[in-house]
Amino acid sequence: MTRHLVLIGLMGAGKSTVGARCATVLERPFVDTDRLVEVNAGMTVAEIFETRGEPAFRALERSVVADVSASPEPLVIACGGGVALDPDNRRVLREHGVVVWLRADAQELGRRVGSGAGRPLLQNGLGGEGEPGGPVGTLERLALLRAPAYEAASHVVVDTGGLSVGAVAERVLEEYRTWNG
Ligand code: S3P
Repeated sequence: MTRHLVLIGLMGAGKSTVGARCATVLERPFVDTDRLVEVNAGMTVAEIFETRGEPAFRALERSVVADVSASPEPLVIACGGGVALDPDNRRVLREHGVVVWLRADAQELGRRVGSGAGRPLLQNGLGGEGEPGGPVGTLERLALLRAPAYEAASHVVVDTGGLSVGAVAERVLEEYRTWNG
């Protein structure tokens, strides 16, 4: 059975750009859980957080993860940064996919996300407004909090520090081919 290629990791890790590149090489569809949640909800991720709250977003996200995991056609799946926190998500993704954790340090993630526009957790911080350190500070705290979940969810880790999108995609594909058997 051919498994999905699943990318997880923090915001700014390159899941969507690297995922799209891998999908082109593998000649298979690319899906991004945030975009599917937005299509299903008819609003942006930021609007969902704002009007319905994070728990509602997580429920929508869980249902998208279950749907895409069940696809009989092998996909490349870029997951929103919080997907791997949920045990059901971890289970279905590991069962149906090769899960690759794209890792980078908070400074580099911070450079990639800039002001954090469109990413509610980086707008307000984790503890509400006034959290110190801006997006990089929040990413540092998230990295510590989430490392155990990313570790538990992933079959393999790819360190992206200092690498181009093409170079990361090559490493991901190499690992995918090994794990997919
Ligand atoms: C989130 C990451 C975002 C998006 C939402 C929450 C998170 O996706 O799902 O803002 O909890 O880390 P990206 O990782 O694609 O930015």
